Amino acid sequence: MAAVTKDLWINGKFVATERTYPLYAPYDGQQLAAIAKADPGHVQEAIAGAHRAFQTMRELPAHRRAEILFEVVRQLKERKEELARICSLEAGKPIRTARGEIERTIATYQFAGEEAKRISGETIPMDAAPGGEDRVGFTWREPLGVVVAISPFNFPFNLVAHKLGPAIAAGNTVVLKPAEQTPLSALIMGELFHNAGLPEGALQIVTGSGRELSEALISDERVKKITFTGSSEVGRLIKSKAGLRKTTMELGSNSALIVEPDVPLDKIIPRCVEGAFAYAGQVCISLQRIFVHESIYSEFSERFIERTQQLNVGDPLDENTDLSAMINSREADRIESWIREAVDAGAKIGCGGRRDGSTFSPTVLLDVTRDMSVSCKEVFAPIVSIVPYRSLDEAIELVNDSMYGLNVGIYTQNIGHAFYASRKIESGGVIVNDIPTFRVDHMPYGGVKESGYGREGIKYAVQEMTELKFVTIKTQL
Ligand code: SIN
Repeated sequence: MAAVTKDLWINGKFVATERTYPLYAPYDGQQLAAIAKADPGHVQEAIAGAHRAFQTMRELPAHRRAEILFEVVRQLKERKEELARICSLEAGKPIRTARGEIERTIATYQFAGEEAKRISGETIPMDAAPGGEDRVGFTWREPLGVVVAISPFNFPFNLVAHKLGPAIAAGNTVVLKPAEQTPLSALIMGELFHNAGLPEGALQIVTGSGRELSEALISDERVKKITFTGSSEVGRLIKSKAGLRKTTMELGSNSALIVEPDVPLDKIIPRCVEGAFAYAGQVCISLQRIFVHESIYSEFSERFIERTQQLNVGDPLDENTDLSAMINSREADRIESWIREAVDAGAKIGCGGRRDGSTFSPTVLLDVTRDMSVSCKEVFAPIVSIVPYRSLDEAIELVNDSMYGLNVGIYTQNIGHAFYASRKIESGGVIVNDIPTFRVDHMPYGGVKESGYGREGIKYAVQEMTELKFVTIKTQL
């Protein structure tokens, strides 16, 4: 790919900036593009345009919003392979995984188009309270206005879709700030929505990074909602600046899985390995902590390690690659030091632990204790620990001993245990008989504790991006 300059997308056209930054491919360091660096002035221009465009968007009927989203779906389908390659290059995502992401992105916008047509309210039985007789009461949902969407690098198409899709379905306008490492995927969406007939200014895309840029985005009072996916640290900072405005926080996790002794290991091990190492573990619901019943611990660990050693690490564009480079070398430095810390404290490396530039071999750790960084913090890297437990209560206690709570998985053939664990586990989602890394795009998705609050999954995100209005009509004067 030639190192072209990519400008900001403001008010329906590309806008050049004085400053740019080079975008490099995580795997081989080739320069992919020079990316515009927005300053606070650009942000203000984008917010002003989105604020103006809201007057048009709020009047746009649901069937038109749906048509725009369906037209985006059509264009995505036409350009699948090209988009998967862009995602693969800028995010270092193995091409097969990137193709999967494009399929999910198509589904997400499809759900958004469908949801646009069924945003509705309810009637309230007003006469249920004395004084409410002879009144009709009902609710409807109104769009909020300008939504600021701050998206992460790990799903540059689909996690953008989880913000743009519901925002536009509901009749809002959006200022999108994609991750510094993955602007190309986001900028394409500007063009696709423009071609689909989205009113000018209803989607603005500002690229770059830094405190000044973020503050300009968050502090502007014309912004009515901030939806953020990323680290708990940044989430906390955004929330502290948001005041009374609405926010949704999709933050990190150290996702766990419980494996009960009654499940067939040959069926579940390939899936567990996938959950731990897909996209080099750079997924918020990546499988990081596996708690295995002590009676099957040795067999599970041996077979898990054997399967892990078969994974191919390499060029993301190679069809055989299972995992590729970390997003940058700082991340590789971090995990190298976390592994060293764990080993110094008594952990054993079952396999992996080797670094080559920014790539890291898939790593299985044994004898991990809950206070080690690789267990109690979010690793966001190809590292998983396997820990034995004696009873289901102990396993649940280990799972819940976490500052996070996004998705948790449990494999069990015992329906009673499945219900018991689902009730006791502290998380936004419980995935029975699959890994915590499971997600389809219409299910409610989000966390508790440091994993954030609010839910994505189109219908649920629409609720977060609309205001409930109540109307009552007195039928007799
Ligand atoms: C995330 O990393 O937050 C999203 C995971 C997914 O959509 O599969």
